[in-house]
Amino acid sequence: MPDILRFLQNRNSAPKLTEPAPSAIQMREIFRAALRAPDHAWLSPWRFITIAGERRQAFGELLEQCLLVRKPDADETARTKARNSPLRAPLLVVVVARLSGHPKVPAIEQRLSAGCAAQAILLASEASGYAGIWRTGDAAFDRCVMHGLGLETDEEIIGFLYIGTRDGPAKPIPQLDTADFVSTW
Ligand SMILES: Cc1cc2nc3c(=O)[nH]c(=O)nc-3n(C[C@H](O)[C@H](O)[C@H](O)COP(=O)(O)O)c2cc1C
Repeated sequence: MPDILRFLQNRNSAPKLTEPAPSAIQMREIFRAALRAPDHAWLSPWRFITIAGERRQAFGELLEQCLLVRKPDADETARTKARNSPLRAPLLVVVVARLSGHPKVPAIEQRLSAGCAAQAILLASEASGYAGIWRTGDAAFDRCVMHGLGLETDEEIIGFLYIGTRDGPAKPIPQLDTADFVSTW
């Protein structure tokens, strides 16, 4: 079996991540993989925002502020969780869908294309010797967070990709049977 196929079959998210993250040069190569996401009419309906170093603290403060807008009675535990969540990896990539009106490419296709770009970033990160995990949560759908990140009204967050080096052993992967998911018509 080709190594690349074995690699694809064993992709594994990493909930616990530590330093180092890919270098700027490595990230440029990783983003080049994202730019090969399937893309109806070549709209490039995506962009990517990186958050690293001390900017993660600033992003944590934004998450906490927006939590308090959504839930003014959020307790200290929830506030701390929101504030600290970006510190779970050395690098965050916010995958943004840029939705435009197109006669042949509905918004769902543009969101799916951005999702494929997100997956490409995870795969390319893992192929480069790193690890990552795709997270969302209420913050991903919150206009307050989107505004704080500088998104336009026609843009949406597809996911927060946490990227770094796997901390601890890889989790076992569920052994799914293709026969349960594939049929012949
Ligand atoms: C759109 C999307 C959103 C997700 N959001 C979260 C999340 O907020 N928190 C989380 O722990 N996992 C989330 N996940 C799941 C993880 O990214 C990951 O797939 C899961 O931990 C299973 O690990 P695996 O990908 O190695 O099978 C999300 C996945 C997708 C596709």
